[in-house]
Amino acid sequence: MSRPSRVASTASTALPSVHTAYSLTLRVLHWLTALCMFVVIPLAWYMTSLDRHDPMRGNWINLHKSIGLTVLLLTLIRVVTRLSGNAPPLPASIPAFEQTLAHIGHGLLYVILFAMPISGYINSYGGGHPVNWFWLFQVPGVVPQDKALGHLGGQIHALLAWATYALIAGHVLAVIYHQLIERVDILGRMTGRAARR
Ligand code: HEM
Ligand code: HEM
Repeated sequence: MSRPSRVASTASTALPSVHTAYSLTLRVLHWLTALCMFVVIPLAWYMTSLDRHDPMRGNWINLHKSIGLTVLLLTLIRVVTRLSGNAPPLPASIPAFEQTLAHIGHGLLYVILFAMPISGYINSYGGGHPVNWFWLFQVPGVVPQDKALGHLGGQIHALLAWATYALIAGHVLAVIYHQLIERVDILGRMTGRAARR
């Protein structure tokens, strides 16, 4: 006979936390951000692989910057929403050690969601390259035009790119682990499925 899943066992003991999902606003903000991240990163690889004289290079870079700044805007709204409402506590069936890891991982993802756009912005504006947000308007510059500052921003941006890859990979693997190995429907908390049960 197969081992009963945690979903089933928590359902029978009626643990309320398993059945709670993030609010619709937080869910939409999460998936919009994830979508932007899955576009902005391959775009960065593509644009940095292009020849300096490629006539389309500037457009791809501007698109990268526009999506990157959109991530910053989405994250600002998300953090304010997150802090002003209640996020569902993690299911009690998840061991305390894993809960701590999840909190640290999520915290670091938020740091990245701020640090990547800000370092990119400093890189661009320090180097005197303003951003034309989706070709609609020029984003104001709030940092001085300073080559050394721009270079530092660029170095931080490139270094944090590795942390970004590692954190996203760890995040997605953690979700898969909870779904398939621990049999806790963590994904349902971010799709809204958990709230409908
Ligand atoms: C969440 C937001 C962002 C992510 C995840 C991201 C990611 C990346 C990655 C992975 C690279 C390639 C790094 C390398 O290997 O050299 C890159 C390059 C770059 N990013 Fe971003 N970026 C973001 C936002 C921004 C923003 C908002 C700007 C500017 C306003 C920007 C400007 C640049 C520039 C100019 C480069 C090319 C640097 C070079 O010439 O090597 N990025 N970005
Ligand atoms: C296929 C891709 C992704 C999947 C399947 C996924 C799934 C999830 C799930 C299920 C949660 C809820 C965890 C919980 O129950 O507490 C979550 C939370 C979170 N995710 Fe993702 N995610 C993905 C991509 C991303 C990306 C690309 C980012 C940002 C770089 C991200 C950032 C976050 C953050 C910061 C949280 C914590 C939310 C909070 O408590 O405020 N996720 N994700």
